[in-house]
Order: sequence, then structure tokens, then C-alpha cells
Amino acid sequence: ITRRLSDGPLKGKHILVTSGPTHEPIDPVRYIANRSSGAQGTAIAEALTALGAEVTFVTGPATAPRPRGARLIEVETARQMLDAVQAALPAAAAVFCAAVADWHVTNAGSSKIKKDATGTLPTLDFAENPDILATISKGADRPPLVIGFAAETDDVIAHATAKRARKGCDWIVANDVRPETGIMGGTSNQVTLITADGAEPWPLLSKSDTAARLAARIAEHLT
Ligand code: CTP
Ligand code: CA
Repeated sequence: ITRRLSDGPLKGKHILVTSGPTHEPIDPVRYIANRSSGAQGTAIAEALTALGAEVTFVTGPATAPRPRGARLIEVETARQMLDAVQAALPAAAAVFCAAVADWHVTNAGSSKIKKDATGTLPTLDFAENPDILATISKGADRPPLVIGFAAETDDVIAHATAKRARKGCDWIVANDVRPETGIMGGTSNQVTLITADGAEPWPLLSKSDTAARLAARIAEHLT
């Protein structure tokens, strides 16, 4: 049960959370996706709600349960997610947990693509998706605290530190998602919080403890 603390430190603060993968259609029955379950995003939304925040949760088609106590907005594609996020602003803080697809298919079929009798293979053309985190970080309605995630498989701290600067967000929550870490799709997480002051490694924690620690940190920053 997620109980909102009626006098919690985030009472009355609107916080936006994105979560889950996005799906980018190839045709009406096929799509490009990724392995994000949305579990960490759901846990963060619940932890923020528990501290009294009014959470808007914008999620792609995640397998994780939806957070209790949040305003829920379900989308499919990255472009829909950007629209939903922009419509949900202003907010005191935004946490961009979603594993947004980097590309969408520009020649998606409006009906199911059939196998060709001659064996000719289909070709997919791609265009880059909007970067939701960077767009919001640099936009007019920028929340006072913008937090991104960086799921990396090599040079985690270096990549995440560069990402923080490039995207213009305040903090990056970085993690190592090589399959052998078991983080993607698993129940625990080991993150490093990158701020203007540097890199702060957190211990291996359950996703809900990681979420509680991040929510407490957000509350400390906003109050
Ligand atoms: N993100 C986003 N919109 C995108 C891509 C990423 O909002 N189109 C956000 C993610 O939610 C995350 C952060 O940006 O908070 C970093 O995502 P990541 O995929 O690690 O960064 P990219 O810039 O896409 O770089 P990479 O080439 O490593 O995938
Ligand atoms: Ca990406």
C-alpha cells in the first residue's frame, strides 16, 4: 500500500516521472522495443507519492505494475511521450526513467508487411526520436530539478557525466546494464548519482530502496 504522507516533505509538489520502454511501430502488428520493465520508474513514483508528492506518471508499454496513487498517462511511442510530458508541465521536478527508443521507423506499414514470394527482404528506414529529457531541460517550462537516467554497458561514469552536460539536466542516475549485472528486468539496482559535485556511488539496493533514497534526496533538494 502506498500511503501519501499528508504532511510529507513533498506535500503539494507536482513531480513528473517517465517510465517504461517505448514501442515504435513497424506495421500494425510489429514494433521496435527494448528490455526496460519499468520497475524502477514505478518504484520511484511510489516513493515520491509516499513523501506527499502529486505524481504524474507517463509510461510506455511497461510490464511492471503501475504505481498506486499517481496520475497515470499511458503512451506508446517516444513522440507521444514527449507530447504527454509537455502537456503535464509545470512541475517542481521531473524524473526521466523511461528507456525511450532512440529511433522510429519512417516507412512503417499502414497494413501488415507480408513476406515477398521472391524472398526480397523489407528495409526499415529510421529517423531519430525527439530527446525528451534534453527538450525539457532546455525548454521554457523547465522544472527546477531535472533528473535523467543513463543505462550504460561500458565506461558508465564517463558516459553518464558527458550525458549530464549534453542534456542539460541537473542529476543523472547512472547504472551498468550489462546483462550479467541482472539489473534490467531484475529487482535490484546499483546506481551512481552524478551531480554538479561529481559521482556518488550508491550501494547495491532493491529497486524500491533505490527509489526511496532518490525520493528522499529530491525532497531534501526541494525543501
Ligand atoms: N531520453 C529521453 N528521450 C530520448 C532518449 C533518452 O528522454 N529520446 C532520456 C532517458 O529517459 C534517460 C536519458 O535520456 O533519462 C538518457 O537516456 P540514454 O538512452 O542513456 O541516452 P541517449 O542520449 O539516448 O544516449 P545513448 O546513445 O547512450 O542511448
Ligand atoms: Ca538511448
